[in-house]
Parts: sequence; C-alpha cells; structure tokens
Amino acid sequence: MVNNTASAAESWTPARPDAAGPREVTPVKLTFDKPSPPTKGLVAALVTEDGKFGPALAGLDAEAKGAIRAAMKTAKFTGKPGSALDLVAPRGLSLDRLVLVAAGKIATGAEQDWVRLGGAVQSKLASLGEAATLLLDLEGHAPSPAQAADVGLGVRLACYGFDRYKTKKKPEDAGDRLGKLSIQVEGHTAARRAFARREAIADGVDLARDLVNTAPNDLGPPEFARRCEELKTLGVEVEVLDEAAMRKLGMRALLGVGQGSVRGSRLVVMRWKGAGGQPLAFVGKGVTFDTGGISIKPAQNMEDMKGDMAGAACVTGLMHALAARKARVDAVGIVGLVENMPDGNAQRPGDVVTSMSGQTIEIINTDAEGRLVLADALWYCQNRFKPKFMIDLATLTGAIMVALGTENAGLFANDDALAEELAGAGKATGEKVWRMPLSSDYDKMMDSTVADMKNSGGRYAGAITAAQFLQRFVNDVPWAHLDIAGTGMAAKATDLNKSWGPGFGVRLLDRLVADHYEA
Ligand code: BES
Ligand code: MN
Ligand code: ZN
Repeated sequence: MVNNTASAAESWTPARPDAAGPREVTPVKLTFDKPSPPTKGLVAALVTEDGKFGPALAGLDAEAKGAIRAAMKTAKFTGKPGSALDLVAPRGLSLDRLVLVAAGKIATGAEQDWVRLGGAVQSKLASLGEAATLLLDLEGHAPSPAQAADVGLGVRLACYGFDRYKTKKKPEDAGDRLGKLSIQVEGHTAARRAFARREAIADGVDLARDLVNTAPNDLGPPEFARRCEELKTLGVEVEVLDEAAMRKLGMRALLGVGQGSVRGSRLVVMRWKGAGGQPLAFVGKGVTFDTGGISIKPAQNMEDMKGDMAGAACVTGLMHALAARKARVDAVGIVGLVENMPDGNAQRPGDVVTSMSGQTIEIINTDAEGRLVLADALWYCQNRFKPKFMIDLATLTGAIMVALGTENAGLFANDDALAEELAGAGKATGEKVWRMPLSSDYDKMMDSTVADMKNSGGRYAGAITAAQFLQRFVNDVPWAHLDIAGTGMAAKATDLNKSWGPGFGVRLLDRLVADHYEA
C-alpha cells in the first residue's frame, strides 16, 4: 500500500504531531557597527601572534592602566591559536566581561581563516551571554569589508543548533544562546552589504542541516518534497513528480528502490532563473532512510541512515542560497526521493529493472540503491535540460570513507576543467574534495550475465565502480560526482559546525557558481 499524501499521520507515527515543519530557532542577530570604545556588557577582542593588540584593545588596555596586559601575563596567555582568555569584571574597566580570542596570524590568512575565526569567536562567546560586541581590529591590519563579512559568516554557521525534538530546551542544544552580536569594524556599512550574500548562503547551509538532522519518520519523500516547495517563496519554480508521473517516464530504476516503502517516491525539479542560457544542473541522492532493503544492513548505526539524503539536502540548500542571494545564473536542482525498506513488495536481489535510459540492471544488492535513484535522475536531467554541466552529490558508498575518511569528499569527473574548478572552490571554502579515478577498466566488474549491468561491483574499488555505474547514465555533458558519505553526515564538531548534519556542499557549490558561472 503506497501512501502518497504529504502528511500521513494515520499510517505511521511522526516524531512530532506537526511533522517536518520549518526551523523554529531564530538565527543570531548580527550587526556591523561603527567602532566606538565599549563601556559595558560582554566584549570580545582579538589578540594576534605574540600577544599583539589592535588599536581598540590597546585603547582599553590604556584605559585600564595596563591591567589587560598584566592579566595576560599572569595567565600566561600568549595568543596561541585556538586559545582564549576570559576576564570577568576586568580591572579598571566598566565591562562585565572581556574575552580575548587568539587569532593567530590571521592578517595574512586566506578567506577561510576569517570564516573560521568567526566560528572560534562564536564558540568562545556562546555560553557566556545573550548579547556581545566583537572588536574586529588587529595590529597592523584593518580587516576589509569582505573579511569582516567572512567573520560574520563564521559566526552565523557556528550558531546553528538542532533542538527540534528536545522538550526541555537547553541553550547548548540550540547553539543560539548568543542572540545578538555587534561586530565593530572600520567600513561597517560596506561590511554589512558584503554580509547580505553570505547570510543567504548560511540560510541555505542551515536548511540542508535541518533536512539531514530531521528524524526519518518526519521526513519521507513527500515531506521532503514539501520542504522543496517552500522555496517557491524565494522565486524558485518547483515541480514535484509523483510515482505515476515517474512511471510514465520509465523511471523504473528509481521506482524499484522505493517500492517496499509505504511512503511514495518523488522526484523534485527546482529551477532558479537568474539569467538566461543553458542551466547548471545539480542532482542529489535523497534516500530518506536506507535500511538496505532486503539486503538489510546490520543494526549497529543503522539510525545514521536518516542522513542518506544529504546529497538532496545539499541541492535544496544550494537552490535556497542561489535564490536568496539572487544569483545571476540559471540553475536547476533535481532530487530523487525514495525510502529503501524491506517489505513483502520490496525489490529482491535477482530482480531486473529497466532504467529510463533503456539500459537494464540486475539487482545484486538492494543496498546499492543510491546509484539506481541517480541513474534515472541524471538521465532525466541531461535530456530535459541540456545543462552546461551536471554535478551530483550522494552519500553513495562506505568505500569512499575507507579511502578518504571524513576530510575530503570523493570527486569523480569526466571533465578536467570542472574538476579543477571544484577543487578550487573546495580550497576556498574548506569543503574539500579529492579527485578519484574513472576508467573503463573498472566496468567489467559490473558485467551481468542476464542484464546490461549489475548494480554492484563488489567490495574492491567500491566508490569507483559506483561512479562508473553512474557514468553509464551520463552522455557527453561535463559531469562530476561527489561521494559525500564521509562528509555529508555524522560530522564531528568543529568551530563552524556542531551539528550532526553539517550541510556539506552548499558553500562549495555556491562558490563554484559565483567564481565561474555568474553573468
Ligand atoms: N547509503 C549507503 C552508503 C553509506 C554508508 C553512506 C555509510 C554513509 C555512511 C549506500 O546506499 C550503501 O549502502 N552502499 C553500499 C554499496 C554496496 C552494497 C555495493 C556500501 O557502501 O556498502
Ligand atoms: Mn544502501
Ligand atoms: Zn544509501
């Protein structure tokens, strides 16, 4: 029995009666203000290498007759990167609290260092108060408006918390205890302007995080599709294809995966038209829960498979970001949404399905489902939109985690220029990608005796054979595949992200678009 309604509380139990609603946490209120010596409240200031003070902090120290320097000496605080010194009721000043945050060699740093600095400042301040002021100046270097805005982005990213299911809300769960931050910086008006686009990007990242973090009983394919439809308010065109529509198109590879679930499968097409011309295309794997199907996964950590839609979440967050910052680009985002469940009607190992491309696939392992979803989504995307390029994101294989761990996403590409651009965007944003090989030599591992191919090439080179499988559904369009199994979910906490779902890929792809494809 397939339930195709968006909210079907009758057939299962949602985590909350209101199921997958929008985010409730109000993000930190960030302002960029003209520098003026602070006289009260919670204040943060930066100390660079060898304990150097910028003019504002030097001014405070003079006012305090050297008490700040003295405190640093007593505490043996030298400004070592990652450290901070918290001065409660600093002597000689009327401030409640002064937090000195070590900024290392930031003045010579790359863009990403400024973002990280913002995250570090937020992490030091978050538990200390509701409102704070950051004196953003340094010895020998006045931060540019872009650098100030990058600090703001870091603060915003670090403020995210997911406490949707906590009935006793604790500030540390919300991450947003810091409700207000005034960043005092020279050129504050320009900084404020530069921050606007970064705020749009942060909103996209937060959306992707929310989707990944949401419990899988609250977020099946219909609910995910509804979240996509919310992007209409930003001017994104959204089409939702249900199972009947996909059957008509012949998307049997995708439909086979969802056929054991009571939740209907969906394919969502999102379009942002910020310019004319050939669109850029982004395609996401959206397995809202991956049990493995009949080839069922072991119980240990299976709950993590709620994050098997991180690729789709990234595409949705990216479309949000592009629309919210009115990117001058034409982009299409496609997400293939299914739930992979064992059931009397589930797909079996041994089944053969015909994909939309006409190629037949023998199902060897129902747990190799992501490639089946993407096979039809990619085929549909390239044929309908004739895109300038096509990039897919998927939590596709455990094998990519064996190869690259959680530091780099696996990058596979049939086009060197696109691969280079992605690698550059990865360096700029810190969302790193590492190129892996594609080669027809791997194809024979997927030869099937009964069909055109098998859906699994076995354990060896698992991430590569998966990519090689996808390539069979890509014609001559520049294409890149990002295997984000290690980077898109179950993230370890950093200064920029404390959330299980990190929203990986939104900043990476927004950057790719901004640097190379905007009119
Ligand atoms: N969603 C999983 C891959 C995955 C594993 C993502 C761990 C994140 C963390 C995918 O659908 C899968 O099960 N892949 C199999 C493929 C195999 C059966 C050929 C895998 O990697 O074991
Ligand atoms: Mn699987
Ligand atoms: Zn999967």
